[in-house]
Amino acid sequence: MTATKGLEGIVAAASSISSIIDGVLTYRGINIDELAEQASFEEVAYLLWYGQLPTKQQLDGLISQLGEYAALPAEVIAGLRLYPKGSNSMAALRTAVSSLALYDGAANEMSREANLTKAIKLQAQLPTLVAAYARIRDGKEPVAPKKGVGIAHNFLYMLTGEEPAAVAIEAMDKALVLHADHELNASTFAARVTVATLSDIYSGVTSAIGALKGPLHGGANEAVMVMLDDIGSLANVEPYIQNKLNNKEKVMGFGHRVYKNGDPRAKHLMQMSRQLGELNGDMTLYEMSIKIEELVTGQKGLKPNVDFYSASCYTMLGIPRDLFTPIFAISRVSGWTAHILEQYEDNRLIRPRAEYVGPVGQHYVPLSNRG
Ligand code: ACO
Repeated sequence: MTATKGLEGIVAAASSISSIIDGVLTYRGINIDELAEQASFEEVAYLLWYGQLPTKQQLDGLISQLGEYAALPAEVIAGLRLYPKGSNSMAALRTAVSSLALYDGAANEMSREANLTKAIKLQAQLPTLVAAYARIRDGKEPVAPKKGVGIAHNFLYMLTGEEPAAVAIEAMDKALVLHADHELNASTFAARVTVATLSDIYSGVTSAIGALKGPLHGGANEAVMVMLDDIGSLANVEPYIQNKLNNKEKVMGFGHRVYKNGDPRAKHLMQMSRQLGELNGDMTLYEMSIKIEELVTGQKGLKPNVDFYSASCYTMLGIPRDLFTPIFAISRVSGWTAHILEQYEDNRLIRPRAEYVGPVGQHYVPLSNRG
């Protein structure tokens, strides 16, 4: 038995939800480029869960269900108030999502119907949780969700307490579409491993949030913004990045395990970053990002991934950087739950083997005989 480090190239599940073939990403067979240009996030979530695009009536039904479920149990909001000041926002989200299970009487029901309802509930409640967490930690009261509006709109509204501009809603909606699913990425795999023990959907999503938090995965979008803030100006890009490259340090937001010729989602976010810069009348972050790309791609051949331009986009939308990864979770929970449902449909425990590389033939030494 020989281990493959990082399971690179290992096909670990069959799935009909999303695919990456020859660098092309599709959700249920539809190219991400078409979805990014034309679909709303709710249409995409429906597509991931049900396997087909909704009719108008089905879409209206989903939006109304999302509105019904968006409010949080009072106990969960009370819990958010108890989190220590300065908590990590992904740690807070992971804890809060885990606690949602305690207030769902159907948390352990395992029928497809019950799990689908919980998937929609989780999708509805995550944006409310992230917005409520952000407001509470800033000393403000949470804003109750609105009914009848999409998730992008509702999230921005709950975060700021103000009606968001149409252009902000459109940008956020597109970002949600682009992050919704991505084959067997680390967090989705974590979710599938967890529920393959026949544990509940909340456990699966909690595991996934833990995996998304890391800077090699979803946490990279925040790390990109930390880097942009550190760099501070267009003039400082070259010396800063050159120094990183010379020291063989990783530049966050570049590289990908699967895409070697570029992440198809990045171009949409790059375009959005440019448009938001033009709209705000400040192209600094966009121009800094372009310059970083020129240097990293030019010297290392590494292309930007989904996290690179999302950092400047979210900042230009006025979103604090520690909410970037929670926003990724707001979108990806659609994919996680679609994969969890798929795993339950045809489940087998996921239990690989390890290549043992430790010592052999050792013996127990009594405590009194150990140096
Ligand atoms: N900056 C500089 N060098 C890099 C980068 C980077 N961002 N990414 C990879 N490399 C180099 C590595 O140092 C390594 O070089 P070496 O062979 O000389 O040692 C080589 O490219 C291969 O890199 P690995 O880390 O082995 O590639 P792997 O497939 O394991 O990792 C990963 C992929 C984790 C995405 C990696 O490219 C990385 O750490 N990127 C930065 C973090 C990031 O942006 N993560 C988000 C990914 S997208 C997502 O999860 C939503």
